[in-house]
Amino acid sequence: MADTIAGYINRRYSDGRRPAMRDAHAKAHGCVRATFDVDTGLPKELRQGVFVPGKRYQAWIRFSNGGSEVDPDKTKDARGMAIKLTGVEGGKILSEEKDAKTQDFVMINHPFFFVDSPRQYLAMLKAFHKRIISDKTNVLNALGAAYHLGLHNARLALKINRTRIANPLYEQYWSMTPYRLGIGSGRKAIKFFAKPCSSDQPKPPGFFSRPDADYLQQAMAGTLSSGDACFNFYLQTFKDFESTPIEQSTVEWKEDVAPPVLVARITIPAQKFDSSGQMTFCENLSYTPWHALLEHKPLGAVNRARRVVYTAVSKARHGLNGAARSEPTGDERF
Ligand code: HEM
Repeated sequence: MADTIAGYINRRYSDGRRPAMRDAHAKAHGCVRATFDVDTGLPKELRQGVFVPGKRYQAWIRFSNGGSEVDPDKTKDARGMAIKLTGVEGGKILSEEKDAKTQDFVMINHPFFFVDSPRQYLAMLKAFHKRIISDKTNVLNALGAAYHLGLHNARLALKINRTRIANPLYEQYWSMTPYRLGIGSGRKAIKFFAKPCSSDQPKPPGFFSRPDADYLQQAMAGTLSSGDACFNFYLQTFKDFESTPIEQSTVEWKEDVAPPVLVARITIPAQKFDSSGQMTFCENLSYTPWHALLEHKPLGAVNRARRVVYTAVSKARHGLNGAARSEPTGDERF
């Protein structure tokens, strides 16, 4: 899977176009500086890893569209929010990044994923990416991908990948897949999500009819020119294998079964984030669920595939761009 996706990057950018971008979530609306404040009243059993009551982390948060190309924002798509905490102490999972003091939380604006099996994902991806190697239209590629997914999973994929949003700072984002919390006998499985602290202004009719290609970045810039944005960060804990499964990423952990517990508040202070230096910094960041402390190990088949894929694909694009791969400290200023 890693070889296939890294191969797409090499082929897509063989014409010399640069920068070579992510194979998924290529378009960034921006990376913003943020603080991540762990709740002081955190229940004892959740005090694991980065969740130290009262602890504040400096973070970089990248908001993105889901596609492999930089399409206009009115194109229906999934939307991503990837949080990177900095200044994180503790034992890391990836040996080659054991000295990086970062912890990532990678999320999409939907509560569950559209496949359980990496094999199925790969078959779908090969069909969908045919346009890189032939001139077939997107519609045919999408049909081919749907065929490999089957009706149920194709429906889920459509639901997840066809959202149209007004402002990334007012969306809710979920981990989709589960993670471990803790090590040893007290460990549990969790999912997490970030929910905006307030709602956006209602949009006038026709809002989406002729928006600018980059209106999501402009909406973020507008919000952050006049004030802060904020998200609450919640954990849900495993109940049983039927209602909160680990291996089936397509099953939502419903809130009435696994009630969310508030664990942190994310503050994105008013700021300007669209200088070319900062956008390049954003491009060169690498997020992966596996940038994690041992206490936050990703779980389930989809996450196991992501362990290999994200690093390989990040290396491929950084190689093409002649850019160094490194983890930020949180002290970067532009
Ligand atoms: C087998 C399943 C998956 C594969 C193969 C896959 C693949 C990828 C790849 C190749 C990247 C770009 C990595 C880079 O170049 O640095 C990426 C980014 C991303 N993925 Fe996935 N992904 C999968 C599942 C998921 C799931 C379940 C989520 C749900 C949260 C997710 C959310 C994201 C987000 C938000 C980004 C952008 C991160 C950033 O801002 O840099 N992916 N994915």
